[in-house]
Amino acid sequence: MPAASIEQLASLCKRRGFIFPSSDIYGGLQGVFDYGPLGVELKNNIINAWWRTNVYARDDMEGLDAAILMNKLVWKYSGHEETFNDPLVDCRACKGRWRADHIKGKCPSCGSSDLTEARPFNMMFKTAVGPVADSDSFAYLRPETAQGIFANFGNVLSSTSRKLPFGIAQVGKAFRNEINPRNFLFRVREFEQMEIEFFVMPGTDEEWHEKWLESRLAWWESIGVPRSKIQIYDVPKDGLAHYSKRTYDLMYDYPTLGYEEIEGIASRSDYDLGSHSRDQENLNISAKVSVNRDSVAKLNYYDQPNNRHVVPYVIEPSAGVGRCFLAVLSEAYDEQMVKEPSADKLEAVQAALDTYKKSVSRSEKLSPEQRDAIVGQADAISAELSVRLPQIESMLALPGADSIEVGKKLRGVTQPVVDEFYRTVLHLKPHLAPVKVAVFPLKRNHDGLVSMAKGIRTDLQINADMRTVYDDTGAIGKLYRRQDEIGTPFCVTVDFQSLEDQTVTIRDRDTMQQERIKSSELEQYVRERSR
Ligand code: GAP
Repeated sequence: MPAASIEQLASLCKRRGFIFPSSDIYGGLQGVFDYGPLGVELKNNIINAWWRTNVYARDDMEGLDAAILMNKLVWKYSGHEETFNDPLVDCRACKGRWRADHIKGKCPSCGSSDLTEARPFNMMFKTAVGPVADSDSFAYLRPETAQGIFANFGNVLSSTSRKLPFGIAQVGKAFRNEINPRNFLFRVREFEQMEIEFFVMPGTDEEWHEKWLESRLAWWESIGVPRSKIQIYDVPKDGLAHYSKRTYDLMYDYPTLGYEEIEGIASRSDYDLGSHSRDQENLNISAKVSVNRDSVAKLNYYDQPNNRHVVPYVIEPSAGVGRCFLAVLSEAYDEQMVKEPSADKLEAVQAALDTYKKSVSRSEKLSPEQRDAIVGQADAISAELSVRLPQIESMLALPGADSIEVGKKLRGVTQPVVDEFYRTVLHLKPHLAPVKVAVFPLKRNHDGLVSMAKGIRTDLQINADMRTVYDDTGAIGKLYRRQDEIGTPFCVTVDFQSLEDQTVTIRDRDTMQQERIKSSELEQYVRERSR
């Protein structure tokens, strides 16, 4: 079964060390998350895959890593100070604050319709630069990485002698003071973007916009997010950002949320380079830009064959790393029954689930929304218990669910059944998997087996540069399950035959089939299957 909800992914992420709430020990910080030991590997692999395709595999791209803090004039002329706003409403009854376009005229917390008029709220975070915090010393934390690229257009052009068309790629942090961060990694206040600003001759922008759309869809497919799960939304004129001439939003079908934006591919015309330039009146800028008396640069390009200066147009594919992470996990997630649990085991779980559900329905500690969410999930699980039984864990991770005492009993009855009859497996593309190979000795107290297994681990991790782990903390079956759950594509077992003929068994995560190969061929075997 694929992931049924964002909660299911969040529960796996916390349990296995992909994602933790930031500053958990002090109750967290809303809309901010930390990437744990496996999360950082998966995130880095996603970023590397993006960089490989968009920078190394092309001959028209350069990379950049601009600073997060920039002169505040950047955000004046980019248009963000004036227009980077979301509509904010207050609930007069419970004092909750909401984004007006995310609620349907009713406070999601208390249900009241007594809301204030919507007013614009600027989403940029401010900080002070230098020791004195006054009205002049502030700077913004960048809300997009894009402006660092535009501000460096002239530097990159003169240092690389690039000819149009060419692009600049950047991956980095962005910060937005979202009114209601929600849905796990989907809407957060601190996140990373993978952005390209691709500079083209005016008049060729429409053609390049279509090319980038195709190129980006192909990349999503290459990391396991299929074309069939992405809708292309041609943003209507009245929904376009202030800089955009036309934008395609790629909408991915997220569990729980349905189709939501995973990437925007905007055609930004000459708005950005024109906005940040001096002498605008001589540049023949087509976009509507504010008069700039502060810039010291003309961000234009000498078109030698035609002996003229032009302000390049820009195509911008911009994707969030966190939203990508979530989509990759969601596509990879699978719960499989390995063998059918016996009727008496299922009955015991059903009885515990019924008791838990009754307790939830009666509980005064839970809000009506929390009760409905938990009961709804319990009903869905009961309707197909033998298939959905592993989802009990993510139901118990719903807000408020752990305040119900009999939840512990339910978990106690369910967990051994899950361990024996089911496996959770992440079918991650091998090049994205946080761990490529896990190595186990058949017996952990046998010096020869342990030493050979550890030797293989060192060889693959250090010499072959493949993230490899050694584990001897359980029976082999249990170790396989543990690796399946984090998406490790290959598990190697060192047994007594290995000591005689230097062969090992290697097990495939998806088919669960094992082969015996020479240990000296492991690196090549894994490499060939990890592209
Ligand atoms: N430079 C253009 C730009 O920033 P955007 O549509 O505002 O455009 C681009 O953002 C991408 O950044 C989005 O498609 C999304 O993947 C990601 N993103 C934006 N806001 C986010 C948030 N609050 N939390 C997580 N990801 C976000």
